[in-house]
Amino acid sequence: MRVVTTVREAREARTGLRSPLGLVPTMGYLHEGHLSLVRRALSENSTVAASVFVNPTQFGPGEDLASYPRDLERDLRLLEREGVHLVFAPGVEEMYPGGCDVWVNPGPLAERLEGAARPGHFRGVATVVTKLLNILQPDAAYFGEKDAQQLAVVRAVVRQLHFPVRIVGCETVREPDGLAMSSRNAYLSPEERRAAPAIYEALVHGAALARQGEMSAERIRSEVRERIDHHPELRTEYVSVADPNTFEEIGTARDGALLSVAVRVGRARLIDNVRLCSPETR
Ligand code: PAF
Repeated sequence: MRVVTTVREAREARTGLRSPLGLVPTMGYLHEGHLSLVRRALSENSTVAASVFVNPTQFGPGEDLASYPRDLERDLRLLEREGVHLVFAPGVEEMYPGGCDVWVNPGPLAERLEGAARPGHFRGVATVVTKLLNILQPDAAYFGEKDAQQLAVVRAVVRQLHFPVRIVGCETVREPDGLAMSSRNAYLSPEERRAAPAIYEALVHGAALARQGEMSAERIRSEVRERIDHHPELRTEYVSVADPNTFEEIGTARDGALLSVAVRVGRARLIDNVRLCSPETR
């Protein structure tokens, strides 16, 4: 496995990699969720590259950029063990020489829901993903469905900027108790960790309501919120039932709608989601 830190080296290393190349962009501190993306990429491509870069432009003021967990040595060991061919782990100055004046603005999709809660977040994601695609020229790139809106933003960027890359969404990987894997789970105290599975339990309950014929998105939102906020360690920031393409809130819990939440748990902010299906498609 080759590890490079500059754009020049990354471009040069890319020319020596057989196509199709799969790219797994990450911010490091890898867990099974990331490794499942790597395994999917390895199963579908001749070679696989991963990037490890904590992207400052997708963090808002007061967010956890400084304390975001980092352990490059461990990440490299895990990636090597999986059989990754190339790791691109640049520093901030390499990715943003002299700062950032040129942005990729993903439009209204990026202003709803997560974008409303974290202004500028998706502009930072779209900008860094565009840079990574441009530098590494993959044939396919892999993203987790836990970050459903990020996946939609990346798909929109690729479609509208005509990048010749296939974007692959991969199923959320969960702990045995249902908690979605996230690098930010590392922030949880033992009590917070014990409470956190209630997030997914509440989503599963919301999905069950829809499957049993509940049509009111508002009723589903309010039951999910109640179940989460019932735990003193958990505080919902939003509960959404939205169109999975536009991320606009909807009134009727129709088939395929995205039920998603953002929840404060101590100093962590966790997100998760499930798709709703109606009684006819259960
Ligand atoms: O999902 C992430 O880890 C990041 O948002 C990404 C896609 C690597 C961009 O920094």
